[in-house]
Amino acid sequence: MDISVIGTGHVGLVTAACLAHVGHKVWGHDSDMAKMDALLSGKMPIYEPYLEEIVHKNVEEGRLHFTKSFEEAVRAGSVIFICVGTPPKENGEADLSAVERVSRRIAEISDDYKVVVEKSTVPVETGIWIAKTLMFFKRPGARFDVVSNPEFTREGMAVFDFLHPDRIVVGLASPEEADAERIMREIYSPIIHGTFPCPIHGRDCKRSDVPFLVTDIKSAELIKHASNSFLAMKISFINAIADICDKVGADIREVARGIGLDHRIGPHFLRAGIGFGGFCFPKDLRAFIRISEKLGVKLTILEEVERINERRIDVAVGKIRDLLWILEGKQVGVLGLSFKPDTDDVRFSPALSLARRLILEGAKVKGYDPKAGAFAKMEMERFLASNSLQVDSFEIVESPYMAALGSDLLVVATEWDEFLSLSWERIRGSMRRPAIFDGRNFLDGGMLRELGFEYVGMGVP
Ligand code: UGA
Repeated sequence: MDISVIGTGHVGLVTAACLAHVGHKVWGHDSDMAKMDALLSGKMPIYEPYLEEIVHKNVEEGRLHFTKSFEEAVRAGSVIFICVGTPPKENGEADLSAVERVSRRIAEISDDYKVVVEKSTVPVETGIWIAKTLMFFKRPGARFDVVSNPEFTREGMAVFDFLHPDRIVVGLASPEEADAERIMREIYSPIIHGTFPCPIHGRDCKRSDVPFLVTDIKSAELIKHASNSFLAMKISFINAIADICDKVGADIREVARGIGLDHRIGPHFLRAGIGFGGFCFPKDLRAFIRISEKLGVKLTILEEVERINERRIDVAVGKIRDLLWILEGKQVGVLGLSFKPDTDDVRFSPALSLARRLILEGAKVKGYDPKAGAFAKMEMERFLASNSLQVDSFEIVESPYMAALGSDLLVVATEWDEFLSLSWERIRGSMRRPAIFDGRNFLDGGMLRELGFEYVGMGVP
């Protein structure tokens, strides 16, 4: 199939690369010309495992093209995926102006039948507005079907998740959209049946067929917001229980294992720590609360999920105070700055929220991250400047050992695998005081205590 992907951010670039990889001809376009220049010269604007390999392979083999021309991209595809950003407005609502602009321009350019796929994360009823916009601005001869096809990919796992999804959801704007349903099924057929060379496992990775769920468009939109909110709720739930564990000396890891063995609950998303971040959960939760409010339904349950998450940093700072007493003048090494491992994304990163709080309390922070150092530096420089704080309050260092050197405390804020194989003897010898706050319950606390560290986690004895 000929497919256009408008917007080549985390969602769009992965969509474009993976759809090309399973055999379609794909044109990617983004209004950010710096991003286009990077992609046209073979550079990846984001880090995502396997992405660079499949982009290069599919460009070389002629299935994936990038173009600076919106018009060329739109004309090339009979199916157009809208993957533009929907950032939060001041009041938490999703800003849909890019979605509207792109829909209007698609209508102004197209003169034949196109399936327009809403892939950006949007509030319920956006699809109806896209359909109305297309109708209003359409040229003679043009015909559109609009479908919602939410994405469920995780950063750091996006290529895997796209190619091996738990389900594919397609929401139709009207029951008459039989052509659109057939076309969407055809697009995803290689993924449904596992008939593509998997870049991760090699050729033989076929699982059972992936469920292909066809719904009305509003239900599909709700599935996306409700899924993310439910997952965020699991995390806040386990974090609240972790606080109880702290009070009574129980172990949240055991509690999570015990409840997760109930198949109705499941073992995933029950890792307690300094909370969830990233550009999806916090923003989608807020947007879902806002849209529900507008619809006259108060999602107080999700407001509490947010509140618990915001309090995680207070809990962490309290524990650090218990370790260090006074933070003023102390040096803290922070390991992991991205919002989770295997990504260079620092947007809404709990690690940076914690670093900011420590600096505001008078500590100096030395941060290390395997991938996100450059973005973290930019973000923290902005923070220091806007709060008139000394520029040397935050420094990016090149290794975990440099973060530990001369520090009064080492914090694990994001659980990168490489932190498991550090030489803790070496670290203990280089710290001013051998203390560890493990904000992700990631390290072996027993082993560290035996080595002479003071070790504190979140909800672990
Ligand atoms: C999330 C969803 O998991 C995806 O299904 C969805 O497609 C995506 O948002 C999106 O809407 O685009 P992502 O934000 O990449 O994916 O990251 P997650 O792996 O879900 O983690 C989110 C945050 O929760 C991270 O800060 C992570 O550290 C935290 N987390 C996760 C916990 O604190 N505990 C857990 O048990 C799991």
